Amino acid sequence: MNADVFTLFPQAFDWYLSQVHIRNAVALGHEFRLTDYRAHTPLGHLQVDDTPYGGGAGMVLRIDVVCAALEAVFPGDADRVRDGRRVVELTPKGRQLDDALASELAAGDVDLVLLCGRYEGIDERVTHLITDRVSIGPYVLSGGEIAAMATLDAVTRKLPGVISNPESIVSESHAPELEGGAEYPHYTRPAGFRGWEVPEVLRSGHHGEIERWRAEQVRKR
Ligand code: 6GU
Repeated sequence: MNADVFTLFPQAFDWYLSQVHIRNAVALGHEFRLTDYRAHTPLGHLQVDDTPYGGGAGMVLRIDVVCAALEAVFPGDADRVRDGRRVVELTPKGRQLDDALASELAAGDVDLVLLCGRYEGIDERVTHLITDRVSIGPYVLSGGEIAAMATLDAVTRKLPGVISNPESIVSESHAPELEGGAEYPHYTRPAGFRGWEVPEVLRSGHHGEIERWRAEQVRKR
């Protein structure tokens, strides 16, 4: 998978992209690329946004700026970038990211292009450039960067080989294997702490009973 993120704040991704599972993905041949809209703006004074037609609060990321950035990375017309790719606008008005959408984006090795907005968002004509609108939840963030990282993270974990123990993905919370439920609880040492005890069954070494107990916990949650 190639993931291209367009943002006004590329440095916001520094920490995220340095995480070990991202470096694992890169070692497996997946690519993550950041593009700063401002670096490609056709406007003077590094302008990227403008006041909304019709008036109102805030600034809107200009469509000519978004097109110029896309065309700097993908030769050809910006509205062809979505041919064979998922071009995602991160917006609170989008389809809510869930496990099924993450699996869909990770499947088929389709390249991802993530467009982060800021201010009041991107000019509505971005519709001509995208295949998807994605939100990470019913609240408003100041920009799409955190949502882009959440989306990238949920997707990257599903790429084969990125998480070294594949079992830890299949049985993860919200996976279909758990029928949309939460994962069973995890404990580690110390066995007792301030009177808070690890359930005896987990320390019994009896794998059958442990499995039954975990399945029961998933049902209860
Ligand atoms: Cl994708 N963007 C913004 N600005 N706010 C959000 C969001 C996205 N998802 C939830 N809230």
